[in-house]
Amino acid sequence: MASILQCMQCGQQYPIMQVIYNCETCGGLLDVQHDLTALRSTVSQELFDQRLGTLDAPYNSGVWRFKELIYPDVEDRHIASRPEGNTNLYHTPRLAEWAGLHTLYLKHEGENPTGSFKDRGMTTGVTQARALGMKRAACASTGNTSASLAAYTAWTDMEGIVFFQDQQIAMGKLAQAIAYGATAVQINADFDRNLELVREVSLSLGIYVLNSVNPFRLEGQKTIMFEMLQQLRWQVPDWIVCPGGNLGNSSAFGKGLFELCQLGLIDRMPRLAIIQAEGANPLYRSYQNNLGGYEPVHADTVATAIKIGNPVNYAKAVRALQWTNGVVEQVSDQEIMDAKALIDRQGIGCEPASACSLAGLRKLIEKGIIRHDETVVGILTGHLLKDPDATIHYHNNQIAGIDAQYPNKLHHAGASVEELTRILDTPVKA
Ligand code: F0G
Repeated sequence: MASILQCMQCGQQYPIMQVIYNCETCGGLLDVQHDLTALRSTVSQELFDQRLGTLDAPYNSGVWRFKELIYPDVEDRHIASRPEGNTNLYHTPRLAEWAGLHTLYLKHEGENPTGSFKDRGMTTGVTQARALGMKRAACASTGNTSASLAAYTAWTDMEGIVFFQDQQIAMGKLAQAIAYGATAVQINADFDRNLELVREVSLSLGIYVLNSVNPFRLEGQKTIMFEMLQQLRWQVPDWIVCPGGNLGNSSAFGKGLFELCQLGLIDRMPRLAIIQAEGANPLYRSYQNNLGGYEPVHADTVATAIKIGNPVNYAKAVRALQWTNGVVEQVSDQEIMDAKALIDRQGIGCEPASACSLAGLRKLIEKGIIRHDETVVGILTGHLLKDPDATIHYHNNQIAGIDAQYPNKLHHAGASVEELTRILDTPVKA
């Protein structure tokens, strides 16, 4: 049986080629549902391991290497791949020590072609747009989705359309969307309102929506888990820690891990810890309330990527938490920026939202929820260069309300050997 679209709430099914984002019967979110029974005899760890290192498309992509679990029946000619994925999994003993545990890995999704994990979902989303014969695709974005959409639509000769909020766009992301040639619109509204607008406008103009409400996006993002497990030789870590904004990624992780378990490719589920910024924490508040629904909040955080108050994937994230016996934590902007400075100092680097993973991990260890002897994989979602202002302002101690704990101050010198010697003779801090 070929893949279908299925409502996660009422089970209503739709053909895979129908352009639809919510169930017509109950309004629930849709899943791309594969025939797991048939796949059981087709896929294996060995199949995916054999494809590692190949130069041949599409299996040279860290997404399409797992094609059978993503979109088995799609024709290769529709696949829009850069290729993406194949990101590093860093073993980080110094950060592990700081957080308070023995074994920490960081999977750096900022190493994707446009510098964030969004490329994994965009390759599948734009592939489906091509299979459908769409000419235009749009998204509302805090920045990274727009950069990715702009790149993948340019690559495949489609028109990309991106809606930005009016404030706090990280410059790297804005620059990418413009440079890749998307039709970029800055709107006098926040992300949550822009998402409503893009859906309304796209419906009336026949434009394909590529926000994470589109279930094909999440199919690609599942591969962060698949690739990480492959890098760990299929040994399941105890915990996955990731930031949560619109909750697409965490939803995708839950679905991907669940499917691997169903297929017998892993024998147990890791636990998922979703970390939100204190100023954009509807899931965290709901978690405090036993996940019985959520109230949208007016979002505000230095981590602009996750400045989201009304997450569309809430229901799928709750399902992921249930499947993985997961937890939700929140961290302050101070905690986010200090954790980011430490990740940056390892020579790895990330954008502010990504640092939720490390900041949240430390908190969960302090609370005794994650144990010192457990193995943890943190997800870094975006590249350091996405938001240069945040980094520079932190090190200059210029972010209101944040007292930088790990600043690396820029020195200034006249063009003289004496002045340079004075600076360089000062002992370097450890
Ligand atoms: N980290 C980064 C760097 C992001 O760009 C995003 C989301 C997230 C984390 C949160 O992921 O929404 O799946 O929970 N950025 C979106 C955007 C919303 O428009 O680029 P999520």
